[in-house]
Amino acid sequence: MTKIFITRAIPGQAIKELKKRKGIIIDAYEKDQQIPRKELLKRVKGVNILVPLLTETIDKEVMDWAGAELKMIANYTVGFDNVNVDEAKKRGIVVTNAPSQQTSESVAEHAIALILALSHRIVEADTFTRAGKYKGWDPNLFLGSDIMGKTLGIIGAGRIGAGIARRLHAGFGIKIIYTDTHRNPEFEKMFGAKFKTQTQLLKESDIVTLHVPLLPTTKHLISTKELKLMKKTSILINTSRGPVVDELALIKALSKKQIAGAGLDVYECEPAIDCNIKDKFELRKLSNVILTPHTASSTIQARQAMTAVVVKNISAFIDGKKIPNKIV
Ligand code: DGY
Repeated sequence: MTKIFITRAIPGQAIKELKKRKGIIIDAYEKDQQIPRKELLKRVKGVNILVPLLTETIDKEVMDWAGAELKMIANYTVGFDNVNVDEAKKRGIVVTNAPSQQTSESVAEHAIALILALSHRIVEADTFTRAGKYKGWDPNLFLGSDIMGKTLGIIGAGRIGAGIARRLHAGFGIKIIYTDTHRNPEFEKMFGAKFKTQTQLLKESDIVTLHVPLLPTTKHLISTKELKLMKKTSILINTSRGPVVDELALIKALSKKQIAGAGLDVYECEPAIDCNIKDKFELRKLSNVILTPHTASSTIQARQAMTAVVVKNISAFIDGKKIPNKIV
């Protein structure tokens, strides 16, 4: 028998199919909320395959509680910064993540939604209208900025970056520049994209969008110095991981109008929206930001795709086949 524990019910047909397999027992945390740490530690005991969400930190302690029976951590996320991969590797535990073209397309759409909503000041205008403040047409009311013909700087030219570039280059005539650890000739060819250093990219872009994993090298990739390089009229979009941006530095830059705005789906001390709550600046009070609660991949299509990938990884592992998204 293979015992699988899922830390929260996940949507999608694939999980129903997995349940039909012989020789497996699936247990899942019953409540539709984040599993409390104590409960997690109790429930992982003797489990062979653990399916955590990004809300669960899977560290040495969890692996200790699980014991030697734990053979696989099949993460229900694309980013896997919630798992101590080195510790898992030491113990011979397989770790997988759940990337898919579908999820990347969903995140790309969300990033574009933030870009357009910021540029056309949609949220500010909605709040104003709902408050009954609209008293008549005014040529200067919520003056925004078109994105047509602007320069988009993509930091991390992977699948999500390509999804954004494809739509905005073809649909809005946006000029694409990018930076990454390596040049990407295919990306350059497809979107006429130009490779830049990060400094050049920050100086030249009207819109900067972040698509890097959270690593020691990407923590605070965007901080005071980097924000100072950006144009006063530019906007920053972060749908990657909160700590990639130094949140306090960003709050200061936004307050001083050093950059025009930010669209954020992730936060440095998530789920807290402000790490620096004691500071006199607060992200939530700023009108030039749009905040979404880590929902960039929250579409029916993306969630189903994520489940399907997790199930594929688990099935391959059980069947002794090549595991599609093996990290270690
Ligand atoms: C991921 O998969 O890494 C997203 O951030 C959560 O959906």
